[in-house]
Amino acid sequence: MRELMEKIQRLKKERDAVILAHYYVDGAVQEAADYVGDSYYLSKKAAESPCKTILFCGVEFMGESAKILSPEKTVIMADAEADCPMAHMVTPLDVEKVRAAYDDLAVVCYINSTAQTKACSDVCVTSSNAERVVKALAQKHIFFIPDGNLGRNLADKISEKHFIFHTGYCCVHQDIMPYHVQEAMQEYPGAKVLVHPECSPQVVALADYAGSTSGILEYARKSDAQEFIVCTETGMFYNLQKENPHKKFYAVKKHQVCDDMKKITLEKVERALRQGTPMELDETLMEQARGALRRMHEIAR
Ligand code: 13P
Ligand code: SF4
Repeated sequence: MRELMEKIQRLKKERDAVILAHYYVDGAVQEAADYVGDSYYLSKKAAESPCKTILFCGVEFMGESAKILSPEKTVIMADAEADCPMAHMVTPLDVEKVRAAYDDLAVVCYINSTAQTKACSDVCVTSSNAERVVKALAQKHIFFIPDGNLGRNLADKISEKHFIFHTGYCCVHQDIMPYHVQEAMQEYPGAKVLVHPECSPQVVALADYAGSTSGILEYARKSDAQEFIVCTETGMFYNLQKENPHKKFYAVKKHQVCDDMKKITLEKVERALRQGTPMELDETLMEQARGALRRMHEIAR
C-alpha cells in the first residue's frame, strides 16, 4: 500500500494533478487525496485549483461539474463507471412540462444531476447551500429536481416559497427508515442523531442535526456528546473517527453503502493517473449547464 501511495504521489506531480475525493469513498482513497469534502467544497476546489489535471475520486456528476466550470482543465475520473443513479432520475421533458404550467418558476437542480439537467435548470444547489440559494431566488414557485426528500426537507424550512417536487431519490438514504433510527436510539439512548437531508422528512424529524456531509462532521467535532447515530453513507465513519478518536459512531442498519462511491480503489487511482481517459463534454452543453453552476457559486459565496 505504501508503494502504491508513493507511485500516486509521483504520478500526481508528473501530471500536475490535484486529487479530489468525496467523504463517501474508502478511507485509503481519502488518504491519497489533496482535498476531501462535500459536493460544494469539491466543486469549489476544482474550480480554484491551479493544477492542469483534476483526478476525481467521486461519481460522474462531480467530474462533470468540474469540467463545466473549468473546461480548459483535464478531468479524469478514478473510475469512469462510478455514477449516481439519482442523477439520471429526471429528464428535460419533466422540466419542460412544469415550466409550461407555471410563470413565476425557478428550476432548482441538486448538483447530483447530469449536465443535461443542469443545462435546463436556473440554478444548482448542494445540500450545504440549498437553503441559502433558494431563499435568495426571486421566483415564488420552485421546481426542485431530482431529489424529492431533499426538496421536502428544504420546503419545511422555507415557507414563503411554493415547491413542486420530483420523484428522484438516493437509494442509500431513502432506505433508512424511521424504525431503523428509533431502534438505534433505544440501543444508544445518550447518542445524538445525525442525518443527511437526502433521508426522508420522517427520518429528518428524528435528528438532532440534519445537514450535508461536512455539516455532520462539523457538528460531531463541536459537540460535547460522546456518541452519535449516523444516518448517511458509511464512508463518513472514516473521518468522523479520525477527527474524534474518543467518540463513538453507530450506523442504523447493516448496509448504508453507496456502491458507486465504493467502486473507487487506490489501484484505480494509480491507473487513472497513468492512463485515464479525460472526460469530454459537448461545448454547447457545457455552456448551457455553466449558468446554473455559476449562479450557485455566486449566491453561496
Ligand atoms: P454532500 O457531500 O454534498 O452532503 O452530498 C452527499 C452525496 O450524496 C453526494 O453524492
Ligand atoms: Fe448518489 Fe446517493 Fe451515492 Fe450520493 S450516496 S452518489 S446521492 S447514490
